[in-house]
Amino acid sequence: MIVPATPDNIAEAGKRLKNGGLVAFPTETVYGLGADATSDTAVARIFAAKNRPDFNPLIVHMPDLNTATTLADFTDLGQKIAETFWPGPMSLVLRRKSDCPVSHLAAAGLKTIAIRVPANATAQELLGAAGVPIAAPSANASGKISPTEAAHVQESLGDAVDRIIDDGPCLVGLESTVVDCTSNTPVVLRPGGVTSEQIESIAGSVAVSDGSPNKPASPGMLQSHYAPDAAIRLNATSVDVDEALLSFGVHHLSDVGMERNLSPTANLQEAAANLFRMLRELDATASRIAVMPIPDRDLGRAVNDRLQRAAAPKN
Ligand code: TXA
Ligand code: MG
Repeated sequence: MIVPATPDNIAEAGKRLKNGGLVAFPTETVYGLGADATSDTAVARIFAAKNRPDFNPLIVHMPDLNTATTLADFTDLGQKIAETFWPGPMSLVLRRKSDCPVSHLAAAGLKTIAIRVPANATAQELLGAAGVPIAAPSANASGKISPTEAAHVQESLGDAVDRIIDDGPCLVGLESTVVDCTSNTPVVLRPGGVTSEQIESIAGSVAVSDGSPNKPASPGMLQSHYAPDAAIRLNATSVDVDEALLSFGVHHLSDVGMERNLSPTANLQEAAANLFRMLRELDATASRIAVMPIPDRDLGRAVNDRLQRAAAPKN
């Protein structure tokens, strides 16, 4: 059931979380499917609702850096990145503390844990109301397109969710950046809302995991992900008659039928915010989607990462 993000609804949803329920909620990146991260049974419901493989660990959401330090050992690098980018679209992978109360199922049995402090006001109010760490993957069926609106969650997960809190479209529109901060060089495991350029500016250098599909450093980085039903063709410089077009910037392609433009002004931030919604819209009517090239810098890296996975052969 979709409910608006009123104080009463958020308080009620917080109680549901505390009692083992599943609540989908907005963050500035995408909608998350939340459960009490300290409860094995609540976390198990997330894996079941998404049909998610249990080797893929969840991100744990916390209200602030202070509370986050109760879960994991912060390296100097982790501390610096957290102070710079929290609250925001950034998840840090750190070694979990020996007395970390987070379910081992949520962490897929790893010795590390991914933690995020979201900026979205509704997410923050919900964390306050629940009073427990909230484990939350993107609120979509595993391998499918992430939700940037409450209605997308309803379409993808339906009645498997107890409550969906609606706070309008997500501002960033792409998931958080996942950065391994267990050593003193940041390793980007998943490009996302904070760019590598931004991380580099405070950390000096950044390593990017090669994302090899057979041995992903971040278990969720499978080759096929964010997959629409339609076939995706990248770097298109022409459009076939049976293709819909996902364009970027001004173009002179002719004979275009159905089209969505990620950003007519070639703004990467706007493109990121529109990506998942436009992919859904084209997927609903077309069986083939041609995608124009997107510059591979700043937020364009995360956009291209998602598009490459959307285009990959389905497992
Ligand atoms: O923006 C986001 O990050 C959203 C919102 C809801 O916070 N969440 C999200 O979660 O995208 P999910 O489950 O769809 O993606 C989490 C990613 C996966 O690729 C997972 O493998 C990785 O984070 N991850 C989680 N814990 C990890 C760990 N300990 N080590 C390495 N990667 C980890
Ligand atoms: Mg996801």
